[in-house]
Amino acid sequence: MSNFMQAAVLPEFGPATAFRIEKVAIPLPGAGQMLVKVKAAGLNPVDFKTRSGKGYASHQTLPAILGWDIAGEVVSVGEGVSKFFTGDRVFGMSNFPEPGNAYAEYAVVQEEEFAIIPKEISFEVAAGTPLAGLTAWEALFDHAGITWGQRVLIHAGAGGVGHIAVQLAKWKHCFVAATASAANHPFLQQLGVDLVIDYKTENFQDVAERFDVVIDGMGGETTLRSIDILNRGGIVVSLPSMYKDDPAAIAKAKEKGVEVKWMSVRPSGERMEQLAALLSNNRLKVEVERTFPLKEIVRAHQELEQGHGRGKIVLTV
Ligand SMILES: NC(=O)c1ccc[n+]([C@@H]2O[C@H](COP(=O)([O-])OP(=O)(O)OC[C@H]3O[C@@H](n4cnc5c(N)ncnc54)[C@H](OP(=O)(O)O)[C@@H]3O)[C@@H](O)[C@H]2O)c1
Repeated sequence: MSNFMQAAVLPEFGPATAFRIEKVAIPLPGAGQMLVKVKAAGLNPVDFKTRSGKGYASHQTLPAILGWDIAGEVVSVGEGVSKFFTGDRVFGMSNFPEPGNAYAEYAVVQEEEFAIIPKEISFEVAAGTPLAGLTAWEALFDHAGITWGQRVLIHAGAGGVGHIAVQLAKWKHCFVAATASAANHPFLQQLGVDLVIDYKTENFQDVAERFDVVIDGMGGETTLRSIDILNRGGIVVSLPSMYKDDPAAIAKAKEKGVEVKWMSVRPSGERMEQLAALLSNNRLKVEVERTFPLKEIVRAHQELEQGHGRGKIVLTV
């Protein structure tokens, strides 16, 4: 094996065209770490926000290798690694929000943040799962604490987080409503969504009410309107961090006797194992709408930035 690899390197924060495909040194795993040959890397909105100098840009060092979602094969393990062996197929959200270095042929990852990919699941689907899946899990179970049979509304239901969240809520036998444009309605109905709302032609507050939980992938004014349709004691989990701690949302929630929460997803190998089990027994299907080879990183980011995807965009390496 040569000591060098191809990577999509970001010399400066800026537009998608700022990426360069370059030869860089293959990193070495330290204690508790593994070197993974990346087979696929999932893209998330935080990737383009960070690339443009927002998101978690302040946590990166230039020139940077972006990306956090990794699916690949273990090539070597550092001292103390006991759960994984060379050749294992693994996936996880690596080192978030510190540099994940996913857009490369090899990446060093933490053992404790990864899990084995079920054998029937492709590297592409595995790479689409971590950040979106961990977010959906944390939002529904840790922050909103959903219980059997509750009424749950998911905004941006067809997106990366949304399409996983609707399936997790259905798994808990909730009544699930979701917002999406008309083209994505059949997709959401196939996933078991009980009520699909076209955000382009309808105001969701006019169509449905009395929700216990709203998972809001849009934020801002969508969070404010969501507060109006909650039962007393209900919760909105608002995902886009740019609206974090919005005083207007906090004040309105207080007045209405409901709660609004913001979150920042955390890596977890244990959670990845739970998602792996759901993938394996077909309780969870992760939709990969498009794949791009690593060398087409510019096009992949341009597509990601449109914000109208169904499921996930994944780089193949
Ligand atoms: N705080 C955290 O820890 C955390 C973690 C993950 C994600 N996030 C944030 O959460 C947001 C969603 O993430 P994601 O990965 O799910 O994004 P995504 O995959 O890019 O979401 C795309 C989806 O958004 C839908 N959409 C666009 N405008 C909409 C509107 N006005 N109303 C309803 N749906 C609309 C699109 O549906 P149509 O194609 O039908 O228009 C598309 O399916 C992002 O801002 C992301 O950064 C935060």
